[in-house]
Amino acid sequence: MNQRRTLRSQAWWDDAGNPEMTALYLERFLNFGLTRGELQRGRPIIGIAQTGSDLVPCNRHHLSLADRVKDGVRDAGGIPLEFPAHPLQETGKRPTAALDRNLAYLGLVEVLFGYPLDGVVLTTGCDKTTPSCLMAAATVDLPAIVLSGGPMLNGYYQGRLAGSGLVVWEARRLLAAGKVSYAEFMDMVAAAAPSAGHCNSMGTALSMNVLAEAVGMTLPGCAAIPAPYRERAQMAYATGRRIVEMVHEDLTPSAIMTKAAFENAIAVASAIGASTNCPIHMNAIARHVGVDLTDDDWQRVGQDVPLLVDCQPAGRFLGEDFHRAGGAPAVMNELLRAGRLHADALTVSGRTVGDNVASAVATDRDVIRPYEAPLRSAAGVLVMSGNLFDSAVMKTSVICDAFRDRYLSDPEHPDVFVARAVVFEGPEDYHARINDPSLGIDESCILVMRNTGPVGYPGSAEVVNMQPPDALIRRGLTSLPTLGDGRQSGTSDSPSILNASPESAVGGGLALLRTGDRIQIDLRRRRVDVLLSDAELDQRRKSLKLPQLESQTPWQEIYRSTVGPLSSGACLEPALRYQHLVQLRGLP
Ligand code: FES
Ligand code: MG
Repeated sequence: MNQRRTLRSQAWWDDAGNPEMTALYLERFLNFGLTRGELQRGRPIIGIAQTGSDLVPCNRHHLSLADRVKDGVRDAGGIPLEFPAHPLQETGKRPTAALDRNLAYLGLVEVLFGYPLDGVVLTTGCDKTTPSCLMAAATVDLPAIVLSGGPMLNGYYQGRLAGSGLVVWEARRLLAAGKVSYAEFMDMVAAAAPSAGHCNSMGTALSMNVLAEAVGMTLPGCAAIPAPYRERAQMAYATGRRIVEMVHEDLTPSAIMTKAAFENAIAVASAIGASTNCPIHMNAIARHVGVDLTDDDWQRVGQDVPLLVDCQPAGRFLGEDFHRAGGAPAVMNELLRAGRLHADALTVSGRTVGDNVASAVATDRDVIRPYEAPLRSAAGVLVMSGNLFDSAVMKTSVICDAFRDRYLSDPEHPDVFVARAVVFEGPEDYHARINDPSLGIDESCILVMRNTGPVGYPGSAEVVNMQPPDALIRRGLTSLPTLGDGRQSGTSDSPSILNASPESAVGGGLALLRTGDRIQIDLRRRRVDVLLSDAELDQRRKSLKLPQLESQTPWQEIYRSTVGPLSSGACLEPALRYQHLVQLRGLP
């Protein structure tokens, strides 16, 4: 053990001025075999925030990985205490897992602040588990380190790679076109999930774990190790060892997650073709640690960074291939050599980003391209605005050639197109009406989804990537432009314009739109405008009636009354008054 500090846990275990409370705190932790000697000797108490459970299959293997974390904590002189985090499973939680991100955040803040913990290992994986853990660590500012769970192994269907999410969209199109049976459809989708782990495409889960590494919160190389690989359990051990040292060094999230670190994460997001959920989550984490980060930073830092990683949905491969090609360190090495990273940003390893990735050269150039020979140039999200919203994002790395040819090939105005709006009031309305021939949907249309922002569809639904009507799919038209105030799955290959803020349920401009309105999209000027006069828009605003929202649970009501827009992270706004809890608010 290096230098001695008085640890905060000693205020519970060894408070000389209050033997009665000390005894009360101690006795219950002795009842499963811990000794007074262990607890009163000033050894770091390390929490393990367990996000895995039978309800969260994506993170379930953390239940066994935690044993290796504990080995590491013990070997370094600490004492591990594992505790459950609120379950957050992306595909199983209704109405949305996003609704519970702030609830899990809130719960974890209370645990980290209110129990005798000196540091914490955050077990991450499934989409919202990573941001909720990092947001809480940011608020409390206790020494913290992320242990990713890792993606599932590659999935295959009939000899072809089957990536999480992607295979669902593909199978759904085949089912709509009558090319597969219901049973084949189910088998096809299940093929994408061959082992323990989180989604194996570059969806929100893998993207957010790579960004946790890029922002400095994991040991180098942690993010992409597939869940079943031996290196995953070895990483768990190393992470357990390291958090004990971090407690002795008092290395806290606020020293690591600086503005420079977030700018590194934004550059990496472009290079990996990250999920469109990443700006929301990273902006939220930043705000909780006291760093001002907005969609404008994504445009400024990330838009012109090229796509280097050939992973689905922007490319071909999956997480296992990405790991074997060198994973996040190899991508960061490319960006570092190109001058696109802040090399001096500190990480949980105790070393800088530059030191961590200096020798991490990619070993498979099909999967991780050199900076000079990217898959696409300028691959970051486009941050758009206009007379319907203040901020929305569009993922340019997934714009396919067919889409470009159809909408972006006018020689005079190659970046501009105008489309007729077909407006849906939410996913239920979309499913009920999309195949209604009287809507006359064809390639000149843009599908619009509203009432699906954080307040409207509590949490914000991943529904903006709408499929065209079945009849169009049968004719070979597999995507239409889409726009909405909701989100889309990180595994979607749709170049939707999404996360539009403010949302329609609170009176955002999408609420004024009617089917048949013409919308002009100008990618070069980053504008989306409905072609209506200001007078007409004012008129419509006057007669606007906001929907009556009915909450189904107490948390939905609390969430709706406290959440901010997607563009600033959909945070629990009152929580932002509370920062650096351990340093500023003392002991409970
Ligand atoms: Fe959990 Fe994708 S659904 S990681
Ligand atoms: Mg998702």
